[in-house]
Amino acid sequence: MLEGRRVVLGVSGGIAAYKAIEVCRLLVDAGAVVRPVLTEAALRFVTATTFSALASEAARTSLWDGPEPSPHTTLGREADLVVVAPATARLLAAYAVGLSDDLLVATLLATRAPVVVCPAMHTEMWEQPAVQANVATLRQRGVHVVGPAAGPLAGGDVGPGRLVEPAEIVAACASVLGGAGTGALAGLRVLVTAGGTREPLDPVRFLGNRSSGKQGHALADEAAARGARVTLITTAERPVAPGVEVVNVDTAAEMEQAVLAHSDAADVVLMAAAVADFRPRVVAPSKLRRAEGLPEVVLEPTPDILAAVTARRRPGQTLVGFAAEWGDPRPGAAEKLRAKGLDLVVANDVSAPGAGFEHDTNAVTVLSTSGIDLNGGLDDKRAIARAVLDAVLVHRSSS
Ligand code: CTP
Repeated sequence: MLEGRRVVLGVSGGIAAYKAIEVCRLLVDAGAVVRPVLTEAALRFVTATTFSALASEAARTSLWDGPEPSPHTTLGREADLVVVAPATARLLAAYAVGLSDDLLVATLLATRAPVVVCPAMHTEMWEQPAVQANVATLRQRGVHVVGPAAGPLAGGDVGPGRLVEPAEIVAACASVLGGAGTGALAGLRVLVTAGGTREPLDPVRFLGNRSSGKQGHALADEAAARGARVTLITTAERPVAPGVEVVNVDTAAEMEQAVLAHSDAADVVLMAAAVADFRPRVVAPSKLRRAEGLPEVVLEPTPDILAAVTARRRPGQTLVGFAAEWGDPRPGAAEKLRAKGLDLVVANDVSAPGAGFEHDTNAVTVLSTSGIDLNGGLDDKRAIARAVLDAVLVHRSSS
């Protein structure tokens, strides 16, 4: 994917700039023609000479001092891809508002090529509403946001904000380039489940949950837009993109049957449905009447659909589970990733304002066995779907 492709590698001024050296080397090893662009602040952490030597191409550092009259337009027009690693809070803000105050932001504004940004900063900065809003704006405009990961940070702190590993950044660049034109998921079969199951008590009543199916439907639409053959198994009556095969179900048992009929053929399984964990053991054959007195409801467990899919998984299949957590979603997500043998877990804190059930927006944490760890802010569900599918693509290309 990267062989012969022109990649502008933007480096902004954070301590993770030292890892951009490795990104540069890996891009060159993959055959890319790398054009490094460093901000003034990046030069306080790393030198232009290092990048020039690795890329065999003079690193640019200024809008004004180079030989070209208009370096940003040349760089922007000629690029097949622009990747910024690390992307600092300032860089993200300037790009989001279109403030071209240095060569790197000017190049970002002057390009029509796909852009990958890899944020890195301290947790407090990453979690600032201003930073999250800028990242959400960029995502909505189609920018691929990769990371940050959670882990040790400079100064001995630990938390979200770490630059994702150089190999993952390069894998993300390859999959974004692979997707240009044809759709990054072209040729893949994607199975999505959506909505909350309804477990009947009698012919007119059920036990259910507040899942609206919006996130699962957004995933199906986004996967179809990227060229996948999509099957959506859903309890929700919501519109879907043309071309998506829809299977309507109601209960966990019906969903299990439909999923197992389609999962063997799927390359990617996204289990976004909120499947009931329990159902009434006995379903009354006719409507329960008040006059008959209080019914005694005994519950039994529903089938664990994801466990059944995992048990018969085939090589090359990517299994993605979803976890609705109450409070910090990370510990629960890490546990589900391990216990359920999944490739990725998309977790959200359904107690947070505006996130999860019934809302048009969501905020997710994505954990994967290859170490991607996305801690996204509040965003609309289509943008969340884009971020989840980006994480799936990065995982598939790095595993
Ligand atoms: N899932 C499933 N079959 C079930 C229940 C859940 O396939 N019977 C799937 C969901 O679609 C989701 C994931 O498993 O992808 C959620 O895992 P689960 O452990 O059931 O999550 P919660 O019910 O949220 O967890 P807990 O009961 O531990 O709070």
